[in-house]
Amino acid sequence: MEPSKVSMLALFLLVVFGTTTAKVEEENPEFWRSQAKKTLQTALNRKHNTNVAKNILFFLGDGMGITTYTAARILKGQLQNHTGEETVMTMDTFPYVGLAKTYSVDFQIPDSAATATAYLCGVKTNLNTIGVSAAARNGICKSQKGNEVTSILKWAKDAGKSVGIVTTTRVQHATPATSYAHSASRKWYSDADMPAAAKRDGCTDIASQLLNNTDIDVIIGGGRKYMTPRGTKDPEYPKDYSSRGKRQDKRNLISEWLNQKTGKVAHYVWNKTDFDAVDPETTDYLMALFEPGDLRYEAQRDPSMDPSIIETTEKAVRILRKNPQGFFLLVEGGRIDQAHHDGRAYMALHETVAFDNAIAKGLELTNEEETLTIVMADHSHPITFNGYPFRGHSILGKSPLWAKDMLPYTTLMYGNGPGHKIINGTRNKITSPMPWPMPPVWGKT
Ligand SMILES: *[C@@H]1O[C@H](CO)[C@@H](O)[C@H](O)[C@H]1NC(C)=O
Ligand SMILES: *[C@@H]1O[C@H](CO)[C@@H](O)[C@H](O)[C@H]1NC(C)=O
Ligand SMILES: *[C@@H]1O[C@H](CO)[C@@H](O)[C@H](O)[C@H]1NC(C)=O
Ligand SMILES: *[C@@H]1O[C@H](CO)[C@@H](O)[C@H](O)[C@H]1NC(C)=O
Repeated sequence: MEPSKVSMLALFLLVVFGTTTAKVEEENPEFWRSQAKKTLQTALNRKHNTNVAKNILFFLGDGMGITTYTAARILKGQLQNHTGEETVMTMDTFPYVGLAKTYSVDFQIPDSAATATAYLCGVKTNLNTIGVSAAARNGICKSQKGNEVTSILKWAKDAGKSVGIVTTTRVQHATPATSYAHSASRKWYSDADMPAAAKRDGCTDIASQLLNNTDIDVIIGGGRKYMTPRGTKDPEYPKDYSSRGKRQDKRNLISEWLNQKTGKVAHYVWNKTDFDAVDPETTDYLMALFEPGDLRYEAQRDPSMDPSIIETTEKAVRILRKNPQGFFLLVEGGRIDQAHHDGRAYMALHETVAFDNAIAKGLELTNEEETLTIVMADHSHPITFNGYPFRGHSILGKSPLWAKDMLPYTTLMYGNGPGHKIINGTRNKITSPMPWPMPPVWGKT
């Protein structure tokens, strides 16, 4: 049989056998209608909360587009041995939903620096630039002067609130950096990352701006190598050269930060033991940097050394909420994006599930009468979802069909990145033998 006919036959079998996967109650029309009525009634009964928010919990899923959201919902359910599609994410329970146009001033597709400047500072700007208006140019220090724009983190601090950032990337990365820094380039993590001209023209690196702009109460993420003098051994990976301190100006920003806080209860920690020992009730300031650079993916995290985003969100909220004037907290699921860049759907989706659980923790610790909680993404990613997967089919699995080249394909696919590349006219092969394992729901009633 020619490949396309094989494919058609498989689709036919799929349709015939696929109908047997419905749960019994779902065959009853009343099941769906009553569910719809309940949803409508909940919306009608909703009391519109017109209070002025004392606290803002701002959750940002980096690169968490709609496909990621849907696929992560299915994964979240499948991790609990459910079919997955019907799972309710914490994000799903929010009463209001909107869509945003994410273009930057100069690009159709933005990056996390331009978008962070848009949603944190309220100003669309150019690609790769942080906390500056579009009058500034990417990488040109001189163009930065006078074009700085401030963020909601600063506005909140100026209003007497406590402020914090929690991320799974290095704290100098585009998203968190935009809350406290102004930089013509998102890449100026430490002074060693800056061109000589930029330093000569008076620009400062992002890490040093952690100390000199807004007085931030809670800083949690990774990125300690940008804080210490060049060659400083990392406490966790003393033998790894790439983890060593980067700073050419020989400053130790961690000890400077601690000195700044003299007279206050301030803690710097880099591991889980010390993090767990931080008592939020007595702590004024916390800086926690768990890795030299970005944190590990949730699926690869060593829970004895690094806390999860759920734990870091909890600690931050508990410290910040002591301020009677309120708080602003930015929580970033920052590695959803990085996993997608590498074509690693497994990592990206597990990051998204952890992020959703962090949102649940944030809601649990705050009161919606006084806290505005926002969840958003900064941009999407070229991940697609197709291939006739059955209900309950592993979200990380292969299509029950095969492609015209008679090879199987995953139902999640990337429009670019390493997995997408066609090498010498041949796509990346998934070589597992056919017949591939059938999904667990196959044939079940
Ligand atoms: C899901 O099923 C597997 C295999 O039967 C089992 O080991 C696991 O504990 C189950 N997980 C949950 C959350 O029920
Ligand atoms: C930034 O803060 C550090 C530590 O408090 C201080 O030594 C330094 O002078 C400050 N730099 C500027 C430019 O304000
Ligand atoms: C955690 O950090 C502290 C302070 O540097 C150190 O004394 C302790 O040994 C570290 N714990 C682990 C498990 O590495
Ligand atoms: C692609 O083709 C070139 C030229 O025939 C060959 O040298 C190269 O190894 C091929 N690359 C791969 C990944 O097969």
